[in-house]
Amino acid sequence: MSADIIDGKAFAAALRARIAGQVETFIAAAGRPPGLAVVLVGEDPASAVYVRSKHKAVREAGMEGFEYRFPADVPEAELLALVDRLNADVNVDGILVQLPLPAHIDERIVTTRIDPDKDVDGFHPVNAGRLATGLHGFVPCTPLGCLMLLRDRLGDLSGLDAVVIGRSNIVGKPMAQLLIKESCTVTVAHSRTRDLSSVVRRADIVVAAVGRPEMIRGEWIKPGATVIDVGINRTAAGLVGDVDFAGAASVAAAITPVPGGVGPMTIAVLLRNTLVSAHRRAQ
Ligand code: GUN
Repeated sequence: MSADIIDGKAFAAALRARIAGQVETFIAAAGRPPGLAVVLVGEDPASAVYVRSKHKAVREAGMEGFEYRFPADVPEAELLALVDRLNADVNVDGILVQLPLPAHIDERIVTTRIDPDKDVDGFHPVNAGRLATGLHGFVPCTPLGCLMLLRDRLGDLSGLDAVVIGRSNIVGKPMAQLLIKESCTVTVAHSRTRDLSSVVRRADIVVAAVGRPEMIRGEWIKPGATVIDVGINRTAAGLVGDVDFAGAASVAAAITPVPGGVGPMTIAVLLRNTLVSAHRRAQ
């Protein structure tokens, strides 16, 4: 193995410590802590784990967490009524409804009901539009975390060839927008892309977010590339990313591990977005 390992866990811990310091300053000035409301519907075990760790991080940063849990059969109208109340609550700076939602609830209706200026997930179409047009808004946490790691590693990204594999609204599309803003030459590949190997081969930056275990092969990686693996796939062999880690690490200059790479960045950026929201709303 020759690649440097990008330690997302350490980067996220440092970011969280910085945020905790800024939260103290915010409280001294505003007389209240930044507040994040997290809404969980149903009993999905993975979602319950995510929500628990988000609350722990919120408390550790000195922010206030508002937690709401509903049974899986909650009527959509009841969930929307809560979102309306949270939109109007002056102590709530950020609102996060954990996805996925049960099938009888339309995720798009719930996501678009959240006030875009409290949408710390960055999922509201208004925030997607702001990102695409260069206006201030909220950027989804995972791609913003990936960008922070890339900038820390590479500095100026201008002119680099970047390939994003995956076109989801939550990761792939906002990631591509962020890299365009950084003046990269961006290709968005996905499950229907022909000859994915040669698309990946020309990339200085590879961001893998397809959700398929070890689909991106080490032989495809350009020597010296920087590889960001967003995938978290549970397999019989344990947790693996979307990238063949051993193969890619033998040719890349730097790569994120799974776990301990991108994963910890998501929560750290959620705290950052919540603090940014609190500052904007306190003005
Ligand atoms: N489900 C998986 N990741 C996320 C996330 O970042 N935000 C929300 N709201 N739901 C998720």
